[in-house]
Amino acid sequence: MSLLAIDDFSVSYSYPAPKRVVNNVCLHINTGEICALVGESGAGKTTLGLSIPGLLDNSGGVNINGHILFDDIDIYQSSAPVVAGLRGKRIGYIFQEPLLALNPVIQAGELLRETIHVHNKLANSKAEALQWLEKLGLVSAKRYYHYYPHQLSGGMRQRVMLALALAGNPDLVIADEPTSGVDATMKHEVMELLVAHCRTGKSLLIITHDIGIAAQYSQKLFVMYKGEVVESGPTKELVKQPTHPYTRVLLNKYIHFMN
Ligand SMILES: Nc1ncnc2c1ncn2[C@@H]1O[C@H](COP(=O)(O)OP(=O)(O)OP(=O)(O)O)[C@@H](O)[C@H]1O
Ligand SMILES: [Mg+2]
Repeated sequence: MSLLAIDDFSVSYSYPAPKRVVNNVCLHINTGEICALVGESGAGKTTLGLSIPGLLDNSGGVNINGHILFDDIDIYQSSAPVVAGLRGKRIGYIFQEPLLALNPVIQAGELLRETIHVHNKLANSKAEALQWLEKLGLVSAKRYYHYYPHQLSGGMRQRVMLALALAGNPDLVIADEPTSGVDATMKHEVMELLVAHCRTGKSLLIITHDIGIAAQYSQKLFVMYKGEVVESGPTKELVKQPTHPYTRVLLNKYIHFMN
């Protein structure tokens, strides 16, 4: 049985103009699996990602159809407290733009301490927050603990986002463009940290436009094009023998860039 089962799932926005941006998508992830969702800008990747922990709902011009089942819990048929209870503890989320996702008036370390406290009710949650920052390679963690998000570099903010998403030890981590805004060396450090989390039997969904990252780190690949998953399968096979024209274009661009 899949840990995450998305079936015939669609999302439309009504404003500023009616538009279906996710179209009858099916996507399944098993326990311990590392998957990647790739596609060009505007393909609908973030919209689909945000739908998984129920961060979009049928209001304010958003229309949702179909099913998302996480561990048999139907996200769009369950009560708000049930879905809220999954966030952080069972589904961790790394948002595409850390600067927008982090609270600007809370120091990064304090935000992490609060998160750890909510998840684990630890008396020494500050010590745990510092440990996380160190574990994620933020040297001088004690100093950076008191920095506000805008005072951190892009790479540091990304590490704080990672710590926030991983601190609850969730069964599934959704990482939306986890390597954007970080330099080439750090790209791989960030990916290694995420993959390390999965070595403990956890699942990962990497959302990226970077086919290189997807090819290198995922076991299963989903290719999204104009709101549809046009091709999916084991990464190694799909990269060797893409069948959809868009996947071929994506891979050719990558191979051209590598040469
Ligand atoms: N809240 C919203 N209201 C209306 N339209 C939206 C909203 N959010 C996203 N869209 C539209 O949905 C489409 C898909 O956007 P989405 O952010 O899901 O794409 P993406 O694949 O994540 O792109 P990128 O790679 O640039 O992050 C785009 O046309 C975008 O303008
Ligand atoms: Mg996006």
